[in-house]
Amino acid sequence: MADGEQTKKPSGWYQHAKFFFGWLRNPRAVGAVFPSGPSVGKLLVTGVRPGARVIELGGGTGTVTQAILDAGVSREDLLVLEKDATFAKFLKRRFPGVKIINADAVTLDRYAGELSGPADFVISGLPLLLFSSAEKAQLLEHVFAALAPTGRFHQFSYVARCAVPAENLRALGACASLIGVALFNVPPAFVYRLRKSVAGAQPEQSLLRTSLRKFGIGRRAS
Ligand SMILES: C[S@@+](CC[C@H](N)C(=O)[O-])C[C@H]1O[C@@H](n2cnc3c(N)ncnc32)[C@H](O)[C@@H]1O
Repeated sequence: MADGEQTKKPSGWYQHAKFFFGWLRNPRAVGAVFPSGPSVGKLLVTGVRPGARVIELGGGTGTVTQAILDAGVSREDLLVLEKDATFAKFLKRRFPGVKIINADAVTLDRYAGELSGPADFVISGLPLLLFSSAEKAQLLEHVFAALAPTGRFHQFSYVARCAVPAENLRALGACASLIGVALFNVPPAFVYRLRKSVAGAQPEQSLLRTSLRKFGIGRRAS
């Protein structure tokens, strides 16, 4: 499919119904009753530009996938891993030309090579707080292996703390900062950016600290 070619966007109620039935099928894996709203999508694609290679984890019914394409990413530069077979089928129909794979994000190492080079962004809607520590550690290892050295991992959370604990960040030599809060999403969502630490920088993930920096108080997160 040529870049920019549009497919018919499913109506909002249809997407919500589809998502809701997905939640009924597997509440733990889906982790939310409704898909993210556009404000979460906008925060998750912060910094994403045309030409970027992007991996999306947990595509659901495609709210964030659409936001990634709207940011100018080419369909062939977008790889989506979705564990739920019904959602994956729906995404394939909705986004022809995008590499949609029905697979567990923890097996990302098997699929990252589908892109033409290292990813600039990994954007995740996974319910990471519900992952076991072993799953989380394995996923993060694969995420940072798939990313270019300057790549970013964007993850949202419904609680006011980064879903990746400090010990995982330390093990990876990574740090986290808050990109923003989608206050009017149901429920409100906190969107974090994780990246490899630059030499000498302290890993940080405190909501209070990063929020204060957003208001210009203290050292600003880059
Ligand atoms: C909270 S929903 C987010 C969906 C969509 N990105 C959004 O923001 O509306 C989580 C999604 O992650 C998927 N998921 C959960 N665990 C997964 C895993 N281990 N690998 C891949 N996808 C997973 C679920 O099936 C669901 O589609």
